[in-house]
Amino acid sequence: MTDQLARRAVRSLVWLAVLGPIPWLAWLAFSGGLGANPIEYLQHRTGHYAIRLLAASLFITPLRVITGWGWLIGHRRTLGLAAFFWALTHLSVYVGLDLFFDFGQFLDDVVKRRYITVGMLAIALLTPLAVTSSKRWVKRLGGARWNKLHRLVYLAMIAATAHYLWAVKKDITTPVIYFVIVAALLGFRLYMRARRKSGRHVAGEVTA
Ligand code: HEM
Repeated sequence: MTDQLARRAVRSLVWLAVLGPIPWLAWLAFSGGLGANPIEYLQHRTGHYAIRLLAASLFITPLRVITGWGWLIGHRRTLGLAAFFWALTHLSVYVGLDLFFDFGQFLDDVVKRRYITVGMLAIALLTPLAVTSSKRWVKRLGGARWNKLHRLVYLAMIAATAHYLWAVKKDITTPVIYFVIVAALLGFRLYMRARRKSGRHVAGEVTA
């Protein structure tokens, strides 16, 4: 595949993943396709969009290293911001449609229900990352500090996966697969770090 073709294909895929769910959900809402329990459906769909996009954003660095395609880096930000957008939508569905803005009940849930506690933790960790995702913030914080801060994305992914695991009542296969993926991605990052420390550079590797 030529570099230009790869760029176009990846860009189309990323934008499809990021924007596709909006017209899809709108279509389902207008055509009555949200099922017998539309709030639950929206709750689940938005949660899945958030966690998939977050996982996709974590794949960018290893992909960049393996392929040597430095241009992939811009998509990491797009995917991360989209994950944050869907996580906030997911939270809004819960607070607005499920709890009818009963913030007292919400705080009670954050304290007493462990899957809500870790879900909130994931959102709290993603917030500074979304705020500082621009080039202006990379400059402001300096590359090294920015990189350090953005390592929190792994913690956010672990919290989101724990949330998913504790939220599902029966089949835990998918959340367990997410845990395996996170462990593999973390292992990859640690391997790269070890190589950097030992002075062996990995092809296509840049720190940001
Ligand atoms: C304060 C933050 C959050 C709240 C209040 C919240 C709330 C919920 C609720 C009520 C459910 C449905 C549980 C059920 O079926 O009984 C759920 C499921 C889920 N949430 Fe969240 N969530 C939060 C954060 C997140 C985040 C940050 C992510 C991902 C990045 C996420 C992804 C998911 C997923 C994948 C499911 C499972 C859907 C399924 O069962 O198929 N949630 N969440």
